[in-house]
Amino acid sequence: MSQMTADSVASPSGATEFIAVRGVTKLFRQRGRTVEALHDIDLSIRRGEFLSLLGPSGCGKSTLLRVIGGLHTADRGSVTVGGSSADTARAGKQFGFVPQAPALVPWKTLAQNVRFLTTLHRGAEVHQVMNNADIRELLSTVGLAGFEKAYPHELSGGMQQRASLVRAFALGAPILLMDEPFAALDEITRADMRYLLLDLWERSNTTVIFVTHSVTEAAILSDRVMVMAAGPGRIAAERIIDLARPRHAEMEDEPEFHAAVRQLRTDLREHHGR
Ligand SMILES: Nc1ncnc2c1ncn2[C@@H]1O[C@H](COP(=O)(O)OP(=O)(O)OP(=O)(O)O)[C@@H](O)[C@H]1O
Ligand SMILES: [Mg+2]
Repeated sequence: MSQMTADSVASPSGATEFIAVRGVTKLFRQRGRTVEALHDIDLSIRRGEFLSLLGPSGCGKSTLLRVIGGLHTADRGSVTVGGSSADTARAGKQFGFVPQAPALVPWKTLAQNVRFLTTLHRGAEVHQVMNNADIRELLSTVGLAGFEKAYPHELSGGMQQRASLVRAFALGAPILLMDEPFAALDEITRADMRYLLLDLWERSNTTVIFVTHSVTEAAILSDRVMVMAAGPGRIAAERIIDLARPRHAEMEDEPEFHAAVRQLRTDLREHHGR
């Protein structure tokens, strides 16, 4: 693991910048008080990177994700995606959002859920409506073969979140913004979902920004982890996770993984409560 500090925010190995966050400050007014949810955030993300935002509750992870995705406007600073504003990028369907709860349309079958979103995007460039064989194949890659006709409520939470994840990738947005997508799952399902996500990410050209409270999740998934701290919301440390790809469950027993986890824990502890 490299020992970069929060001051060095250039993208890893000088790779070209895709998303540029420059001096972003975001204020919220709460009952006559001003909360600085984000203070002077600088961040460069390269195309295809898997980046995590790790930090305690209230440190501004969701806010940063929303500013990057053009859902919140910064009070100061700017976000650009491939040189355009976040707003333009959002209008151009550059972003897919994966929330905490599975994002499936309840009255549609799994097959219709997957087809539905691609239909919405038919006008936009390369997206096509998937045929039944493609949908079947897509669902089978996430262990949902034979569930094409099932409705979301007939599936377990883990199955729904798998379908939701596969749908997000099928949509084909170049950037996926994931806000604690596995938070509602049990520990075992959650561990499986990590490797499913990595598999989908590795087969696509997607840039992922992943919000999590989990140190182990951040360490096994990411190319780079931004450790955030609260009061005001800021980036406290930047850590490159130098583990080989593709990653697999056995790596969680390796000393390199434990070292990465230990480093992130130390970062969190050092910057907590200041
Ligand atoms: N819409 C809003 N209006 C007012 N204050 C907000 C709003 N959204 C966030 N905040 C405040 O901004 C700060 C950062 O919130 P944010 O939701 O980004 O934190 P977080 O790191 O995602 O936390 P968690 O891990 O609990 O989801 C908090 O103090 C929160 O109260
Ligand atoms: Mg949040």
